[in-house]
Amino acid sequence: MCGIVGYIGHREAYPIILKGLKRLEYRGYDSAGIALYDGKDIKLSKTKGKVVDLEAKLEKEISTDGNLGIGHTRWATHGVPNDVNSHPHYSNSGNLVIIHNGIIENYESLKTELKKRGYTFQSDTDTEVLINLIEDVMKNDGLKLGKAVQIALNQVVGAYAIAVFDKNKPNEIVVAKLGSPLAIGIGGDEFFIASDASPFIEYTKNAIYLEDEEMAIIRRGKDLKIRKIKDDSLVDPYVQELQLNLEQIEKGGFDHFMLKEIYEQPNAIRDTYRGRMLVNEGIIKLAGVEDNMKKFLNADRIIIVACGTSWHAGLVAEYIFEDLARIPVEVEYASEFRYRNPVITEKDIVISISQSGETADTLAAIKLAKSKGAFVFGICNVVGSSIARETNAGAYTHAGPEIGVASTKAFTTQITILTLIALRLARAKGTISSSDYRLHLLELEMIPDKVKKVLESEAHIKSIAEIYKNTRNFLYLGRGYNFPVALEGALKLKEISYIHAEGYPAAEMKHGPIALIDENMPIIVIATKYGHYEKVVSNIQEIRSRKGKIIGVVTQGDVNVKELADHVIEVPETLESLSPLLTTIPLQLLSYHIAVMLGKNVDQPRNLAKSVTVE
Ligand code: AGP
Ligand code: GLU
Repeated sequence: MCGIVGYIGHREAYPIILKGLKRLEYRGYDSAGIALYDGKDIKLSKTKGKVVDLEAKLEKEISTDGNLGIGHTRWATHGVPNDVNSHPHYSNSGNLVIIHNGIIENYESLKTELKKRGYTFQSDTDTEVLINLIEDVMKNDGLKLGKAVQIALNQVVGAYAIAVFDKNKPNEIVVAKLGSPLAIGIGGDEFFIASDASPFIEYTKNAIYLEDEEMAIIRRGKDLKIRKIKDDSLVDPYVQELQLNLEQIEKGGFDHFMLKEIYEQPNAIRDTYRGRMLVNEGIIKLAGVEDNMKKFLNADRIIIVACGTSWHAGLVAEYIFEDLARIPVEVEYASEFRYRNPVITEKDIVISISQSGETADTLAAIKLAKSKGAFVFGICNVVGSSIARETNAGAYTHAGPEIGVASTKAFTTQITILTLIALRLARAKGTISSSDYRLHLLELEMIPDKVKKVLESEAHIKSIAEIYKNTRNFLYLGRGYNFPVALEGALKLKEISYIHAEGYPAAEMKHGPIALIDENMPIIVIATKYGHYEKVVSNIQEIRSRKGKIIGVVTQGDVNVKELADHVIEVPETLESLSPLLTTIPLQLLSYHIAVMLGKNVDQPRNLAKSVTVE
């Protein structure tokens, strides 16, 4: 998520940090801020909005001199995007300053403790809790900054890349990393800190990438020391020579944001359930659901409203909610729902799903539902977005910024959060047995590693893309939980390669689309082990009799489909209800590679916008 930049050395820090933040803009953010230190005074300026807004504000507010500085682009996770919640944050004494990317999951309990000890908080962020925890450790134990950071981080659950400095140490910055990236550029008498190497590429080609659970104490004029946060052991710095150009670095070495985001899915899914699902304890806890449990349990039905890929996630949810929690679900295109004079009562719960949280039709559907007295629960990725603010309660997906117009990690994380909600309600209603509930938790925890396994098939999927890239029509078929995945696979291909594709429930094929099948038609069939497998195999036989080209997405070890299909792509075995999280990955990669081979603009396809704020 978002970006951090820091500098300590002989140059003026401000221009380096400002340019660095601009280079990190691609990561997606909602606010920006910079703190500079001239050896006497700390000068800090921050704002909601873009780096250019910060530039305009900062240059009026503070003097920009100083050879030490840190800068941040924030993508809000705790507290809406506003000036106060923007980083950097001061500690209560005003001596320490921090920037942070990531999430401190146990911030609430730490905050309660700190409040008891007299600390006060200006912002709603988890970050301000961390800087005061560091200050508290320093004060109580009479420790230096580095040691205090280490002790504090050992009390923290979550993910972070942080940079901290102390007014009493004008030549030192302390950084640490777990989960979020952090690179240190090494110059002659200077050090650079950044989320990736793009902010300092023109100053030095020598960089150290901190590993998880490592921290570094960076002192101007001296070497930096890297230590393991857990056991304090010293780590030999591994200095790499950077080979990449600017563009590549911004995309983390991937050619496109879409591919980067496809590969981010294991972590994104983990970030979605992290802190909300405690497998050993058998607990699922989502504040928005717990606080409104009565409403959920008394609801006559759930109506899901969304558009595009988010609507597909809603369709998957329909299967999960009905199957596990036995609550009737209707899934509606927001654009249809809002103009249909729908029957909505106070006993309905409306769940709106939106990555951006800004989609005009979804927003209008929410307003309509609220006006009719329904309780509206929002699932959004972008914190503080219009939909997040308009809904009565909700849950964020925490997938991190999605830049590619074609939605990938938003889809899988939406399914993840909807699964958590369904499981929580099923447990509360008693519609799921303890053993089945436990099994779901265990299996969900394994999904990120299984997604990684699917990603290993990329070369194979690319070879299939090569064979079919010039075809003008594709069919995607799936049943049950994987019917919406077929729709999503077809949408992905359409939007980035401009090839016509249709998604269908496999059994519907013979009611029309079968007429399209001949030896030129590739048909992608999702045929996982537990998803009406025999029925799908019969559908595959029907396609084969008409000479269609079959690309099967199957469970590892499958033999039947392998015999019938022209190609198979294997995914690890999991529960059928969780299988969309795996089967969707090869379809994303297939579309991606076909679009690249056809020379299309993958990240910004023609006619499409990332956030559709017009109806
Ligand atoms: C998906 O790849 C899309 N580009 C599009 O369908 C998108 O899912 C839709 O516009 C909804 O956006 P939202 O999730 O931000 O509301
Ligand atoms: N959790 C922090 C916040 O909400 C940091 C978010 C980020 O990574 O920018 O302020």
